[in-house]
Amino acid sequence: MCGIVGAVAERNVVEILIEGLKRLEYRGYDSAGVALLTDQGEFSRVRRIGKVQALADAITDDNGKGTTGIAHTRWATHGGVTENNAHPHASSDRIAVVHNGIIENFADLRMRLRDKGYTISTDTDTETIAHTVHSLLEAHDSLLGAVQEAVSQFHGAYGTVIMDREDPSRVIVARSGSPLVIGLGVGENFIASDQMALLPVTRRFIFLEEGDVAEITRREVNIFDVDGHPVVREIVESTVEHDAGDKAGYRHYMLKEIYEQPTVVRNALAGRVSLDGLVPGIFGDNADALLSQIKHVQIIACGTSYHAGMTARYWLEQYANVSCNVEIASEFRYRKSVVHPNSLLVTISQSGETADTLAALRLAKELGYTSSLTICNVAGSSLVRESDMAFMTKAGAEIGVASTKAFTTQLGAFLMLTLALGQHNGMSDVDRTDILTGLQSLPAKLEETLELAQEIEDLAEEFADKHHSLFLGRGEQYPIAMEGALKLKEISYIHAEAYASGELKHGPLALIDDEMPVIVVAPNNELLEKLKSNVEEVRARGGIMYVFADKDAHFESDETMRVINVPHCAASVAPIVYTLPLQLLSYYVALIKGTDVDQPRNLAKSVTVE
Ligand code: F6R
Repeated sequence: MCGIVGAVAERNVVEILIEGLKRLEYRGYDSAGVALLTDQGEFSRVRRIGKVQALADAITDDNGKGTTGIAHTRWATHGGVTENNAHPHASSDRIAVVHNGIIENFADLRMRLRDKGYTISTDTDTETIAHTVHSLLEAHDSLLGAVQEAVSQFHGAYGTVIMDREDPSRVIVARSGSPLVIGLGVGENFIASDQMALLPVTRRFIFLEEGDVAEITRREVNIFDVDGHPVVREIVESTVEHDAGDKAGYRHYMLKEIYEQPTVVRNALAGRVSLDGLVPGIFGDNADALLSQIKHVQIIACGTSYHAGMTARYWLEQYANVSCNVEIASEFRYRKSVVHPNSLLVTISQSGETADTLAALRLAKELGYTSSLTICNVAGSSLVRESDMAFMTKAGAEIGVASTKAFTTQLGAFLMLTLALGQHNGMSDVDRTDILTGLQSLPAKLEETLELAQEIEDLAEEFADKHHSLFLGRGEQYPIAMEGALKLKEISYIHAEAYASGELKHGPLALIDDEMPVIVVAPNNELLEKLKSNVEEVRARGGIMYVFADKDAHFESDETMRVINVPHCAASVAPIVYTLPLQLLSYYVALIKGTDVDQPRNLAKSVTVE
């Protein structure tokens, strides 16, 4: 979603803000803006539609000066993509505001503000923050006091940073539902919506908690909790690699992240699992005793993370003998659900900040689950902090909007959870060995699978002029087909649907013709013969197929079917291995179509609004 950066320093902060925005650009990117204030009270505001570079190009010696500043990349929610709707928003030439999230009662606030004589000049909800704070300045002796009262009037989600033109010495920040992190420097302090933005200037961070309001000056950070009481929050030394934002010579972050998968999966397994089994305590200090009571798992997630949960359901029921439900967070949070006895709630999220998943976790806490576990990629994120247990996927920073390495490490985490639950629920030795040997050889299998890149790049040509496609899989490969379809639609804008192939004749077969490529995921497992029948059904209707298959599955290429042989692997890890060719396919199709691979249109990383 949107990105926020702010700074209070002795030096000119414009470059820090622009670099920070560039590092956050992957989160949202329809427009960007910056507001700067010098010690002498000179104020400038520059906003541009498009990439951060357009903003950077508009900065001059005249408008690019300031020791205090706030900046923003926008992903439009309220109001179209116009310069006027871009942040920072201002009130009465005095208050400037950047904001992530949604002020749900903005319409009411607008009416009240109009009654007080304010002119509403944008379509955004954020403008109401600026005017509300401004309207309260007189009643308070400080900007801090005005903001503390203002936030009590806001309903919805916000991470916001507010600057007063009459006081360049500070910014006030407030968090409710949208993350903010303070970066600590020497004689300068910073604020951002993600630590990635500030890594070039500091590695010491304070993650604000829900309801916190903080006053940031060059030398001090004063934090107040939701009740207005001063609080001290822990200072965390970041372990995120400084160069996590570099492409390392790859053309796109997505390609870099696809190729990182053998390494990050190896890291995610190291010290946690070996051929002897799971290392005790990997889910947390008291987790082993707790997991031994679990008889049911409820998984909640969105998007790609939801597909990881769908795959895990097959594993948990087949190998660990534990019943499992999987639900999209935005559905779960708005319906009444029944909690099974001894149920573990598992949320999955790359970012740890997805609004619906977080809301579902908070709701679930009231429903009587035995415990909650999050499988997450971002330490210190809201899901990690608010769950009873956190299992880090260790994928490293994922910048490409289309999730790749986060997904495969989520699947690795779920195989470890399957082992952990299976040992208390009668997992067979055969299954245990299959998972352990599968995991052991997984990084090497992923390396081998990436060698298919050239072959996949060649066949991507055949997709470039297509408008629709169908992905088929059975069993635990059905969610992998869903993930393949999601990747293709996200970055190549080709309509892609996934079906459990047994469903073909219940409707989608009507779509088959030679303009609708059909992608089949076909490892050599007990469902292979069933899948082959489905392939014949497609062939009989003149469909063109691309089959990703194990060599031993004995598919032969011919004029209607192109077979891509995927390295043979243990059945338990096949969903992870078969994910990679589908990622590569979507990448190369997008490349040929010339889309913005890392920042596909209309999408954003880290969906912090509902
Ligand atoms: C797709 C993608 C999204 C995310 C979804 C959930 O490539 O990245 O579908 O998976 O927005 O995000 P997280 O995992 O951060 O909760």
